[in-house]
Amino acid sequence: MTVTTANLQTFKERGQPITALTATEYAIAKLIDRAGVDLILVGDSLAMVALGHKNTLPVTLDQMIHHAQAVGRAVENALLVVDLPFMSYQESDEQALRSAGRVIKETQAQALKLEGGYPDMVDRVSRIVQVGIPVMGHIGLTPQAVHRLGFRKQGIDEAAAAEIFKQAEALVEVGVFALLLEHMPVELAGKITQAVPIPTIGIGAGDACDGQILVTHDLLGLSAWQPPFAPKYIDLSTIITTILQKYCQDVQDHNFPTN
Ligand code: KIV
Ligand code: NA
Repeated sequence: MTVTTANLQTFKERGQPITALTATEYAIAKLIDRAGVDLILVGDSLAMVALGHKNTLPVTLDQMIHHAQAVGRAVENALLVVDLPFMSYQESDEQALRSAGRVIKETQAQALKLEGGYPDMVDRVSRIVQVGIPVMGHIGLTPQAVHRLGFRKQGIDEAAAAEIFKQAEALVEVGVFALLLEHMPVELAGKITQAVPIPTIGIGAGDACDGQILVTHDLLGLSAWQPPFAPKYIDLSTIITTILQKYCQDVQDHNFPTN
């Protein structure tokens, strides 16, 4: 965990793209870290890709901490960021501080991310930053609001784009170290990236951001559901299935073990 939030700021100033991926457990986290990825997020998308839920809402703070502890044991280089899950910070500033404190005390996380779309999240972020915990904002499509927003691109019309732009400025004002921009028009993500002094990291937000993040299960072709903006770099599901079938065949044919 040698990458710091200050390093990411330098990346932006140098125009050096920031690389980020999610991780859910030890083995793959280790590969991601050794590959030189700058930021590793224990995202609440683990509710879907690791726990099999339909959306991110069911995952608990205890479960996030459990996964983050495993990832933390693997990460030596990347900045480790952990998502606060649904209803671990929405109730009150006090609840948010308690949840934030637990993640920082019980895992190796150096920073937190929370979905900051609503006006009152700005104060909440401010309180967490004030106790010394770096926070990454998350605007645009915020999956914890799936029942209100759907899994749809946000900020399409002018008023909605202006609203997201305002949220970006408000979050910067209270000291977020970076902004995650999810599923919004490339023009809007570019405008935010130009306007804010801190790094933006995009997903489904085009190439104008200061960095990019993907859900690793999507990248590797291991997700049951693939968002439209997530490319599959490889179809690991097919490759793994072939290997598993070969193992079964070898056992059935008495080809394994060989002695
Ligand atoms: O939980 C997650 O995977 C995220 C993505 C937007 C990277 O927050
Ligand atoms: Na998330």
